[in-house]
Amino acid sequence: MEFADVVRRRRMVREYEDRPLPPVVAERVVASALRAPSAGFSQGWAFLMLTDADDRRRFWRHVPARVQATPRIQNAPLVVVPLSHRDAYLERYARPDKGWTDRDEARWPVPYWHLDAAMATLLMLLSAVDEGLGACFFGVAPENLAPLRADFGVPDAYTPIGAVTVGYRAVDLGPQDPSVAARRRPAREVIHRGRFGRHEEET
Ligand SMILES: Cc1cc2nc3c(=O)[nH]c(=O)nc-3n(C[C@H](O)[C@H](O)[C@H](O)COP(=O)(O)O)c2cc1C
Repeated sequence: MEFADVVRRRRMVREYEDRPLPPVVAERVVASALRAPSAGFSQGWAFLMLTDADDRRRFWRHVPARVQATPRIQNAPLVVVPLSHRDAYLERYARPDKGWTDRDEARWPVPYWHLDAAMATLLMLLSAVDEGLGACFFGVAPENLAPLRADFGVPDAYTPIGAVTVGYRAVDLGPQDPSVAARRRPAREVIHRGRFGRHEEET
């Protein structure tokens, strides 16, 4: 698929057919995350990959009821929990080429550990589209983080930033869905040209 089509077609797909994914496809989708950029090439991320039916069943217990109740979302044959690892960044930036030996979090304009895990996550969402699949990212509630970690042996130093479901779309959401197109904020509103608040396109 053309890259522009992948970007245009990407939508959060929440309903899946009850159909397994070829393992090689699941591996490709998850491996695409490793191509993401990361601050200082820290790669402070990890991905909990759930394909086994029992593992996936256990996973759904840690998801908000509203998401759990989405029809057919639990059919997704692949669930990935991207994990961010703050300490990997603090350690990486304490090295001589960066020199932040105080490991002070206040140095970070935004938490790059979460940012990088999110960039990796987006690559999985796009790869799913490229494979002819659907995917969805959704949040994990704060109260579910500890039980989710405990259930899957995730060390406390790793933060689940949410979860991604991947599978065959049960509902096809085209890029032209008018209800979505109407709600998407237009370029003239969100793109500031040369100065914040200046929206007109140059002619
Ligand atoms: C950080 C983040 C958190 C989100 N959390 C949820 C969520 O908890 N439940 C859900 O159904 N969708 C969630 N979404 C999906 C958004 O609702 C969706 O991206 C948005 O409505 C735009 O639709 P689209 O991605 O299909 O274009 C989340 C997306 C992001 C980026």
